[in-house]
Formats: sequence, structure tokens, C-alpha cells
Amino acid sequence: MAAAGVRERFGSRAGFLLAAAGSAVGLGNMWRFPYLASENGGAAFVLVYVVLTLLLGIPLLLAEFAIGRRGQSGPIGSLRKLGGRGWGALGYLFVLVGGVILAYYSVIAGWTVRYGLEALLTGFAPSSAEHFAEVSSGADAVAFHVAFMAATVLIVVGGVKGGIERASLVMMPMLFVMLVGLAVWAATLDGAGAGYAVYLQPKFAEIMHPDVWRAAASQAFFSLSLGMGGMLTFASYLSRDQNLPESATVVAFTDFSVAFVAGLLVFPVIYSFALQDAVSASTIGALFIAVPSAFAAMGAVGRVVGLVFFLVLALGAITSTISLLEVVTASAMDEYGLSRRRAALLAGTAITLVGVVPALDTDVLGLMDKVVGELLLLAGGLVLAVFAGWRLRGPVREELLAGASPFWRRQVPWILLVLRFVVPAIVAVVLFFSLRGTLAAVAEFAAG
Ligand code: PHE
Repeated sequence: MAAAGVRERFGSRAGFLLAAAGSAVGLGNMWRFPYLASENGGAAFVLVYVVLTLLLGIPLLLAEFAIGRRGQSGPIGSLRKLGGRGWGALGYLFVLVGGVILAYYSVIAGWTVRYGLEALLTGFAPSSAEHFAEVSSGADAVAFHVAFMAATVLIVVGGVKGGIERASLVMMPMLFVMLVGLAVWAATLDGAGAGYAVYLQPKFAEIMHPDVWRAAASQAFFSLSLGMGGMLTFASYLSRDQNLPESATVVAFTDFSVAFVAGLLVFPVIYSFALQDAVSASTIGALFIAVPSAFAAMGAVGRVVGLVFFLVLALGAITSTISLLEVVTASAMDEYGLSRRRAALLAGTAITLVGVVPALDTDVLGLMDKVVGELLLLAGGLVLAVFAGWRLRGPVREELLAGASPFWRRQVPWILLVLRFVVPAIVAVVLFFSLRGTLAAVAEFAAG
């Protein structure tokens, strides 16, 4: 329990929704989603992604919301209280995964701040690939990572209402407005039509490809912040009058909309400047090389647009990093009775140190992202689906009904069916097929 013994609460429904949407909306939407879409058949990927958001995303969001609000603790405390010590031990997995994601995510977030400052102060470097190599290595990368972590700690120390909620209420609307502005600007580019065509014309043959489904499933987890207890922790600050099914739908819809609009921005930019090859050349760097080189070619306009673009990325990132740090912070508070300030500082320092490794080596960063995205989040999601759908079925149903409007109450039975049967089945299959590839990547990395 926190020192005062009374659990913190969000101050408003909008505060909770924007904080949860803030966790979901982030680098995943603007950096990973357009990249995956361009590599996996454009519109085919988008379609599969929508299907999986409905089939996996919303039910799992609800599992996390229901467990968190019922348990009134972070993942460790909630699983232990509701399921016993064995399940509680599994809760540590979530906290660990949250910390690992934060360690490398903050490194990428640091790059976005660096590019934003360059737009403001010096303009974009003409040779983007070489410049990205500088940005993503050495002391510079470490410094921006440390600064980003410091900003994250500062917000989380402010508390649920005074820090996280307040930041989300200001930052998320800014992000939406700027992103739409950018997409409108992108529509005026010469190659916009070609970009839209690739993004929006489905090549149906691609839909049959299992890899497209695998990529879309892991992206749905990452983008909705599922499988690491972040949404669970936020829901532990809710009272019982909140309509959970409606909230989950709003969060998933917002997250998808931002990803979709990010595609409407990135595809025209890439096709106007014929940067397709730069995108497929490097996973992690794709957007950090291709997009800035387009801005560099545009002169003064590029600096303004680039500044807004990287500001949007940085805002998306910080509303996500606060949710990641909050999982670890809340767990340290719940489990060890630390004050919020102490817990956030300790967790933040430890994670900052771990992040130095991916800051110095983008191969490590890529590997961490792969292991997290393809294995750990999916495994966490499987645990949560089984826990909520089987072990805690009755209480979860009660939580979903409590506070729900009549319309949403009618949806609860089939949501539960999907959670019990469809989600574990799909996630298990995807995990099975990811396991070999991911372990092979780890082995290859270890071999040098
Ligand atoms: N959902 C965030 C994004 O899309 C990343 C994230 C993953 C945040 C997992 C929290 C937990 O950028």
C-alpha cells in the first residue's frame, strides 16, 4: 500500500481515457505501424490489423481493465490478491517486461527529441543515413535517453492525477491536432497519390500470408500496450462507476485512428521522395533515415514540418513512457511500501542504466524490440486472457457489467466468449510460430 493507505484515483473520465490512449499511442503508431504496413502489403496489413484489434485488442484491454480495477493494485498485487501466490509470481513477469520496454523505448524517444532540436536549431543533415548513425550511437544517444527518462520520472513523481493525468490532458489533444495538420499537408505533396495507392489498395494475396497475421498480432499488442500490465495498472486507479467496455473501445479506436493517420502522412512523404528503399533497408532506422531526408530536401518548409513531426513523436512517446514507468513504480509502492517519489526514482534510475546498452548499440535495441514484441507481450497476454477468462471468470464478468450502459451490458457475454476461446487460441498459435524465429535471432546475435 502507498504510504497514505488510500489508493490514488484519476480525477475525471477524460483523464483516464487520455492517459490510457496516451499509453497506447506512441512510437508504435507512428514508427512501427507505417513501417510494418509498407513491408507487409500495405492495405492488406491495415485490414488484418483492424480485425485483430477487434478480436484480440479490445477483449485483452478489457481483461486488463477488469483485473486492475478489481485488484486495486499493480499486476503483481492484483494477480496475487485475485488468484493466489502462483499467479502473483507471474505478475513479476509484467513488471520486468515493462522495464525492458522502457529501457529501449526511451532511447528511440531520445532520438525523436534530438531530431526535433535539430529542426529547430540547425536544420536536417543532408546525408540522413550517416547522420542517423551518429544520432543512434555514442554519448549523444545516451544523453538524450537519460534526458527522456528524467522527464518521464518527473511526471510520474507528480502522481496519477497531478502528473500522469495532467500531462495526458494537455499532450494528447496537442498530438491529435498536429498529426491531422501534418496529414493534410502531406496530401498536398506531388507523390501523395502514389503513396496512398500503396497504403490503401489491398493486395489480397498478402492477406493469406501467415507472416502478415503474425506481424499484425504483435503490433496490436505493442500498440495497445497489452501484455505488460500497463492498462491493468491504470485501471487500478478507477472507481466502479466507469464503463469499461466503452472505454476499451474508445482507447482501441483512438489508437488505430492515430496509426492510420500516421500512415496517411508517412506514405505520401516516402513516395514523393522515392524513399521506399531507405525504408526497407533498416528496420529500426527506417523512419529516422527516410523521413528526415525528405525534410532535408524541402528546405525551410521541411524544417517547420519536421519540427512538428518530431514533436508529435516525442509527445506520443512520453505519454507511453510514463505508463511503462508507472507499472514498475506502482508495483514497487504496492509491494515494498515505498513512497511514490522513491519508487519512481529507483525504478527510473535502474531502467536508465539498462537503457545505456541499447543506446550504444542499435542491434541490441532491435533484438530487445523483437523479443518483447514477438514473445514477451504475447506471453503476457496469454497469461492475462487465461486468468481473466478462466480463473477469474465470474468476477471479470461482474467488473465488465458494473458501470456499463445497457448497450454495453448486452455485449459482455460474447466479449467473454472471445476472451476465453478466441484470444488464447490465436495468441498461442502466433506464439508458437514466432518462437523459432525469435530464438534463432537471439542465437544469431549471441553468436556474434
Ligand atoms: N503502446 C506504445 C506505442 O505504441 C508502446 C508501449 C508498449 C507502451 C507497451 C506501453 C507498453 O508506442
